[in-house]
Amino acid sequence: MRSDIGLIIVLILAGSVYGGELTKWQNQREDAVFALFRPQDASQGALLLQEAASQGNADAESDLTLAKLLGMGVPQDIEAAEKSSSSLVEGGGARAHTTLGLLLSHNLTGTEMTEEKRQSQALSHYIIAAMSNDPIAQILAGLHYLKVGDCDAALQYFRRAALAVIPAVPEEMMMQDSPRYVWPEDDEFEGRMTLDEFHFVELMAQHGDADAALKTAVFLYRGLPGLPRDVRGAVGYLRQAVKENSTSAMVMLSSILLRHDIPDVEEDVLGLLQTALDLGEKSAHAYLGLLYLNGFKDVPKNLAKAKIHLTQGVMHGFTEAFYLLGKLYEEDSSGGSDEAIALWHVSASVGHVPSAFRIAERYWQELHRGAADADNTAVFAKALCQSAVSLYREVALSGDWHYLLESAYEDYVSGHAGTALMKYLLMSDLGYPSAHVNAGRLLDSGNDGIYNTEEALHQQAMKVWQKAGGHGPYVRLGDLHYYGQGVPQDLTLAFMYYNNASMLGSAHGLFNAAQMVEWGEGVAQNVTKAREMYEEAALKMLTFRWHSLS
Ligand SMILES: *[C@@H]1O[C@H](CO)[C@@H](O)[C@H](O)[C@H]1NC(C)=O
Ligand SMILES: *[C@@H]1O[C@H](CO)[C@@H](O)[C@H](O)[C@H]1NC(C)=O
Ligand SMILES: *[C@@H]1O[C@H](CO)[C@@H](O)[C@H](O)[C@H]1NC(C)=O
Ligand SMILES: *[C@@H]1O[C@H](CO)[C@@H](O)[C@H](O)[C@H]1NC(C)=O
Repeated sequence: MRSDIGLIIVLILAGSVYGGELTKWQNQREDAVFALFRPQDASQGALLLQEAASQGNADAESDLTLAKLLGMGVPQDIEAAEKSSSSLVEGGGARAHTTLGLLLSHNLTGTEMTEEKRQSQALSHYIIAAMSNDPIAQILAGLHYLKVGDCDAALQYFRRAALAVIPAVPEEMMMQDSPRYVWPEDDEFEGRMTLDEFHFVELMAQHGDADAALKTAVFLYRGLPGLPRDVRGAVGYLRQAVKENSTSAMVMLSSILLRHDIPDVEEDVLGLLQTALDLGEKSAHAYLGLLYLNGFKDVPKNLAKAKIHLTQGVMHGFTEAFYLLGKLYEEDSSGGSDEAIALWHVSASVGHVPSAFRIAERYWQELHRGAADADNTAVFAKALCQSAVSLYREVALSGDWHYLLESAYEDYVSGHAGTALMKYLLMSDLGYPSAHVNAGRLLDSGNDGIYNTEEALHQQAMKVWQKAGGHGPYVRLGDLHYYGQGVPQDLTLAFMYYNNASMLGSAHGLFNAAQMVEWGEGVAQNVTKAREMYEEAALKMLTFRWHSLS
């Protein structure tokens, strides 16, 4: 670590040499990097960076090492990523440290060293990159400090990552957890729309179906894998549904018009919301509140009216109303900030990102005030720190890199297992639950072209399965211990994992555990008990089949 301190100082000094030009380039560069994460913009981002790199820009070259490692906008080339990141870290390329850290952490540098050494070198690269403002490295460093129990250090890193993310977070942003799984059996989430289904619904909408128009608008507004977000398109379909008196469309259209700078707004937004409300659409309260909170076109700001509608919205349980009423209380001293926090807790608990950020900031201030305040006990400060960390972390995970989950899935579907795997490994390191499972499945299938020894494959698989929860992962952990893959064989542990899986309802886990009881492997032999377990497993399988058939 000591030698790295010198490097950090060099980086900081290098940063202060340039002036305004640097800021301008910084913004362009951040845009280019964020484009890399989104499947449809990745090649555009890579092109911009390549241009800058060809003019000798080391930052852009550094960013490209990550693109090469993950196959974002450029073909994946792990060897080239290693070569250029190793040489760039010498010259102070910040994001090259992240790339080299990832290569080390996942045993891809081709150099022999112990696992501890590999991980500690990876960590020092993450820390340097984190100090040079790479939010991905900040999350990785934060997770490390969290693991070793240093909450204060974790808080510093997660807060910096959250601050990097928050300016681009839309006010209505929810952390939506609808992951896609490369193994259909892992997917407990039915009814996700595919691109084909979307085109069908859009066709129905074009033939005048108002429900279909509303649905089409929702998907255009959110975007689907393979379908970029299209706010103007959504507005068009909503106007169609509004003509058919769809109250949901009235509210959604108003919310979009209030939030996005749409030119030539022909609607009377206040009238639209009032109509929806008159027709019984209670969610209109939340947006009437938003309308009066900021004012819109010729409707002036009116906090008293805003408060009435937002209070109604809260009473009907609309997430956005909780957030907005909190904002109103904070702005207008009539309520008080403790009430704001209480409201944001509700919206944050269902994944509303700006609410999570606001509570975290409050905790942060509290902690810093607390430093001078002897009343704050260490226990209280620790609890406050942990709550703040988990909120900042949630905000940080909503950064643009979350699109890599989609991008990885698309890679997998189009036969690029290697890029899919690297993306899932990074996402697993960052703590996205579905990435653990997907990386595990790809490693188990063994033909990704990245790891060419069984030992290296099993070792990576072991790590991701340990991070995953749920019965599928426990069965896999049981297998890895049973066969001694990536870890020494340990029948007792294998038996425990099969049982853990079975406790979560896995017939497969119960079946494997029964076999171990039958043969006395890692547990006392008991044929009677084994038979009971087999019967129970068979019953579970039947019930499962029954559920999936009906
Ligand atoms: C929508 O509502 C208006 C006013 O109630 C009514 O005149 C019109 O016929 C309705 N349109 C449709 C398509 O139902
Ligand atoms: C790391 O990778 C090398 C091959 O590059 C392999 O021989 C070695 O076993 C791996 N180490 C671990 C701990 O997986
Ligand atoms: C698995 O089961 C063992 C013993 O039954 C228990 O101690 C352990 O906490 C369980 N692990 C998990 C992750 O559920
Ligand atoms: C074997 O399992 C059965 C049923 O679970 C139990 O009743 C019996 O006591 C067990 N036998 C031994 C030797 O533990």
